Parts: sequence; structure tokens; C-alpha cells
Amino acid sequence: MYDTDLESRADREIAAFLEEEHAAKGNALYPWYRLKFLAAKNRALSATMGLAPYDRAIARFVVEQCPFAMRFVEVGAGIGQESMLLALHGLPTFGIEWLADHVDMMQRLRRRLADRVDRTLLERMTPVHDWFPRCADAYVDEGTLLAFPTISTRIDDQLEREIFQAMQRAAGVILSVRDFFRNRPDPADQDALVVRIRDLGFAAPVIVRAWDEIDMGFPPDRIVFMRRLR
Ligand SMILES: C[S@@+](CC[C@H](N)C(=O)[O-])C[C@H]1O[C@@H](n2cnc3c(N)ncnc32)[C@H](O)[C@@H]1O
Repeated sequence: MYDTDLESRADREIAAFLEEEHAAKGNALYPWYRLKFLAAKNRALSATMGLAPYDRAIARFVVEQCPFAMRFVEVGAGIGQESMLLALHGLPTFGIEWLADHVDMMQRLRRRLADRVDRTLLERMTPVHDWFPRCADAYVDEGTLLAFPTISTRIDDQLEREIFQAMQRAAGVILSVRDFFRNRPDPADQDALVVRIRDLGFAAPVIVRAWDEIDMGFPPDRIVFMRRLR
């Protein structure tokens, strides 16, 4: 069952963690966190966010609608909020992240949440310092829910083929149709992405969360789930 109290406790701890990181690092804190999550920097916020609205929506969706998921693999996890929240709900999670500074923060945040919220988190949440799809074989199998919530790093055609091959092995995928390895503001481009994933053997997309105006500092977007058809 999705636990909103647990969600609130995680949110407060992660927000405090981000405030402390900012106090220690100043503008060296990655702009994504500094400019979108901190109330001091994002005028749309009345308080610093630990969890983004899509983190909460994805976690609730996975807990309530994805009983088939044996593990959750988050690509471009950053400091790993989504993977932490789902692991607190009992699901084994892997946060794959390339940037060493983010992996270091993910490890320290994981330790903090284990100390202050749930000691058993350490058994379920695994930070992975690697580049996707290079590490895909080790982390994607037929019980995997593979998520790309906010990834816009550009890739070449060969890498794109490897990413689609890795997706094909998963039980389901969760992705932003606007920011999947490049910015896709054009709805036709977003639709073409969905068609391409359906052609791999996935069902029609189910909306996990959508917003069409500026939302807490995030651009318009649509996060969808697509289940692999067997
Ligand atoms: C915009 S941040 C989002 C972090 C987090 N998912 C969130 O929603 O707050 C995207 C992250 O993806 C990481 N990243 C980008 N491409 C990656 C790749 N191919 N493999 C692993 N990490 C990647 C970046 O280093 C960055 O930390």
C-alpha cells in the first residue's frame, strides 16, 4: 500500500539534505537541484522540495499498479529520490547515475534515510555508478521496471539502438515523452517515440502524470508507463 506518511518523511529528509548540500557547495550544486528544488532559488516553491511531484506520482503508480515489478531500475537517477522512495516501500531499486558527485550524494542520502527513516533501506536501494546503456545487461531483465524519468543527455544512433534493445527486455518502462535522451517539444516527435516503443512489443502508454503548464519550475511534460506484452 502506498504510504503518504512515509512519503512526507522522505520528502522532509531529502529537502533538508539538499539545503545542507547547497549551504556547503553553493553554486557548485548541480543546477537541476539548485534551481528547481530549493525554495531560495525557485520562486514557484513555498518550501524546498525533497521529492518532485513526478517522484511521488511514479512511486504511487508503481506501488499500486505494478505488482509484477521485481525491481525498479532508474536511469539518470541523480541523487536517487525516486529509487529511495520506492525502496522505502519495499521494492528493490537500482539508481544508475554517471556523475560521480551525484553518486556520492546518492550514497550519503541513502545512509541518512537509513539512519533516520528505515534501516532496511540499505538492503534494497543500490546506487550504481555507471553509464546506461553500457551497464544494461547487468540490470535489465524480464522482472525489471525500467525508468527514465528525466533524462535529456543527447546520444548517437548506435547508443539509441542499444537503449531500445535494453528496453525490450524489461517488463515495463516509465519515461518522459518530452525528455527521452533529447528534448522533444513537438507532439509529433513524442508520438513517434511512443510508436517506436510499441513496435518493440509494448502496450499503449498509460499516463502516470501529466502537466501542461509550468509546474514547480518544470516544463510541460507527460510521464507514461508502457507494459511489455508477452
Ligand atoms: C536532470 S538529472 C535528473 C535526476 C533525477 N532523476 C531527478 O529527476 O531529479 C539527469 C541525471 O541523469 C544523469 N545521466 C544522464 N545520462 C546518463 C546515462 N546515460 N547514464 C547514467 N546517468 C545519466 C545525469 O548525470 C544527471 O544526474
